[in-house]
This record gives sequence, C-alpha cells and structure tokens, in this order.
Amino acid sequence: MSVLPRPVLFMAPMVDLSHVACRELIRSFGGCDLFYSEMLNSRIVPVEHPQTSIYLRWAHTNDLIFQILGNDPDKMSQAASILDGFGPWGIDVNMGCWLKKVTCHGWGASLMKDIHTAGRVVSAVRRSTQRSVSIKFRIGFEADMDYMLDFATMLEDEGADLLVLHARTVADGMTRKARWEFIAALKDRVSIPVIGNGDISSPEDACCMIRQTGCDGVMIGRHALIRPWIFRDIKALMAGQEKQGAPDLLEVISELHTLLADHFPADVALKRFKTALVWLAQNLSFGHYLVKQVGRTKTMEDAKTCITACYDGGIC
Ligand SMILES: Cc1cc2nc3c(=O)[nH]c(=O)nc-3n(C[C@H](O)[C@H](O)[C@H](O)COP(=O)(O)O)c2cc1C
Repeated sequence: MSVLPRPVLFMAPMVDLSHVACRELIRSFGGCDLFYSEMLNSRIVPVEHPQTSIYLRWAHTNDLIFQILGNDPDKMSQAASILDGFGPWGIDVNMGCWLKKVTCHGWGASLMKDIHTAGRVVSAVRRSTQRSVSIKFRIGFEADMDYMLDFATMLEDEGADLLVLHARTVADGMTRKARWEFIAALKDRVSIPVIGNGDISSPEDACCMIRQTGCDGVMIGRHALIRPWIFRDIKALMAGQEKQGAPDLLEVISELHTLLADHFPADVALKRFKTALVWLAQNLSFGHYLVKQVGRTKTMEDAKTCITACYDGGIC
C-alpha cells in the first residue's frame, strides 16, 4: 500500500453525490487526501462503457478509490480487475450499505452476516489487484463488539490494507449517534490503518475523533457536501493555523453547476445539481426555498437563472 499521510482525510462514498463534479469542487478548496467513487455494482462494471458511463468519470484517478458492491467473489474479482486498469489508488469493498434494496441481494452490510462469503470476497478482490484494498463496513447488525472485532480480524487476514468503520449498526441506519468507541476498539485490534467515520460535522469533531479513538484518519460524508471546504479547515486546525472564512456560496454553487455541465450529459447534470444543492443549500437561510424553486426547473440553464433570481430577489 502507498504511504498515507497521517492523519489521512477521506471523502466518503455517496450514491449520486461522490461523483467527479463534487470531488473536483472539494479539490478546488485544497481537497482531501483520498476520494471514493459512488458505489459501483460489480455486475454492472463489466458492461459499463468507459467512454459513455456516467459512473466512470474522473479528472484524476491517483487519489481515487473505486467502491464495488456485490457478494459473488468471481464478479467482485472481475470488477476489481477492470477498475484496477483505470489506475486508481485503491479498490474498496462495500460492506456497509444498510438499505434493503442492497441487503436483500446479500450485498453491502449483509456480508457482515456471512463471514465466510465476506472472506471469500475480500480474498478474491485481493488477488485481482496490486493496489490498496479497503473495506468500508459498519459495526454489524447489532452492537456486538466481539463480533465486530472478529470480523475485522478476518478482513485483515484475508488481505485488506485499510479498514473504514462507519460506527453505526445496520439497525441504527443513519439516525442514532455514531458509536466512536467501536472505532477505538478496532484500532486496538488490527494492525492495518483504521479510518473513522460517522458524525463529523466540523474540524473540531475530526480532531476529537482522532484524539478519542486513535484512528489513522477520518472520513467525512454529509458535511463534505454541505461544506466542501471542510477539509481545508481541518488541515488548518491541525496545523494550528487560523481558520479562513466560508467562501461565497453563490460562487460555490456556480462552480458546482459548471463542473456538472462539463462532466455529464445535460439531463444527468441537472439531476445531480438538484441532488447536491439540497446539501449546499443548508448553509442558507432561504435554502429550502432555493431547493424548491430549482427543483421545478427543466434545464441546467433554467437552474442557473433560477439561482441568480433567488439571490437577486433579495431573498437572501
Ligand atoms: C446520500 C448518501 C449516500 C451514501 N452512499 C454510500 C455509498 O454508496 N457507499 C457507502 O459505503 N456509503 C454510502 N453512504 C454512507 C456514507 O459513506 C457515510 O458512511 C455516512 O454518511 C456517515 O458519514 P457522515 O456522518 O460523515 O455523513 C451514503 C450516505 C449518504 C448520506
């Protein structure tokens, strides 16, 4: 595995959100150390055409980890070796997605119920790439520390280079407060790097998680969408530098719009603009109104005009 800076900062994988435009937006503020792709279904990867796929788009791959989803070792191995060919930093196996539409197939967090299959998947992916292999997982279906630690030991034994723990159970969904004590216990158990994830909403939270758990780095999801400059502020806090002010949000929204228009067909760009705006708009007192108005637009041009009109209309 390539040497990682310590503590290492990751942007989380997020469906419809951790695409090239959001990643480049984050990069425009100095970026994080490693980015994740959206989860990619291992059954779909072999039939996606790299020139036309809306999932296989990037500006850089050397700091990108492709996340794959599935439970068939052969299909996971095939997907990993195809994605390996694009030159990413690593390949991640999704063992954390708790949504029924995923777990009903035995994918995502379901693998945590089936330690034997999970082990075969990791071993197959390990054999298909020389790049770093990470596993992003949850605590488990229940808050059972011993089970989580045994599962993690198995992941390490099968060849994982890096573990990312979203410190919630499947039953917790996204609601209950993340259980950071599980990250600390995981760090004590395994000898590979451990990345903590769950409920970091400020630079102070990031430092607090590192201090409390001893983890080697942090992963941020939702708050990297709300404040794409959060990694810049974490780096400043860690370096003891003064925090910069928040950027002009209209400029951030416009930049996202441009990046989406540059990287995606118009219909996909508009859909993704509306999805990402829901998060960015949380910084605005009139965010709810803005999202609603933009939600009614039918083209990227209309969306841009609508944003300008909302700002010019003095609603802000
Ligand atoms: C909209 C959305 C989409 C997500 N998609 C994925 C995904 O594709 N793969 C994955 O492993 N986790 C996914 N997650 C979970 C996040 O990666 C992360 O573990 C979770 O949001 C907790 O981190 P946070 O508190 O920093 O947001 C998603 C979360 C959100 C909110």
